[in-house]
Amino acid sequence: MKITFFTHSTCMLEIHKNFLLIDPFFSENPILEKRTLLSNKYIQSFERIDYILLTHAHYDHVCDVEFFAKKFNSLIISNYEISNFFNKKGLKTYGINYGSFISFPFGKLKYVWASHSSSFNDGTYGGNPGGFLLHTDKGNIYLSGDTSLTYEMNLIPKFGNLKISILPIGGIYTMDVEEAIIASNFLQCDKILGVHYDTFESIKIDRKKAKEKFLDKKKQLFLLEMGESICI
Ligand code: NI
Ligand code: MN
Repeated sequence: MKITFFTHSTCMLEIHKNFLLIDPFFSENPILEKRTLLSNKYIQSFERIDYILLTHAHYDHVCDVEFFAKKFNSLIISNYEISNFFNKKGLKTYGINYGSFISFPFGKLKYVWASHSSSFNDGTYGGNPGGFLLHTDKGNIYLSGDTSLTYEMNLIPKFGNLKISILPIGGIYTMDVEEAIIASNFLQCDKILGVHYDTFESIKIDRKKAKEKFLDKKKQLFLLEMGESICI
């Protein structure tokens, strides 16, 4: 499985030639110089996007969904309310909720609890926020979405060992670095890809210190450059 980080919480997962885009945030992203989607070099490099996974309805997670879903005829997977919202715009959606694993060509997916909020920019209700637990024959991965530290995370490893977890570390709206370390204990997962930091002034972190704090606990924090990938 290949994980490519773009910015904020936007990642691409490649599993058995299936391309899954997570929470796309390009056009309104303050740290991207050329914010028009068509001129963005990373977007130009995308050949396929088979699925778009959305954790919640906040604009920094969904603002470019229509662009990608139309361009690549992607299937949008999210909670029932977010799926309905995009389905009414004529896009292909698959609405799920907290519950069982659901089988897809790339693996088994479960929508799991996140302690956050979820509304679209115009105030439309965006259902309950969530994260995704993904089990594949290449290993299991947990994407928490925007969330505070929550005791619910203790449930995640009960379904199987995780190879890596993608957690927010910027604080204010989500967990910060210290809380993400506690989360990694709950998750019994020592490899964390940090997201949701440095995009806005309010969530700036000291990257070196953040990595040291994880190392002190014998854990590894990956902080990737834009467009950089790791394989697990
Ligand atoms: Ni949010
Ligand atoms: Mn967010």
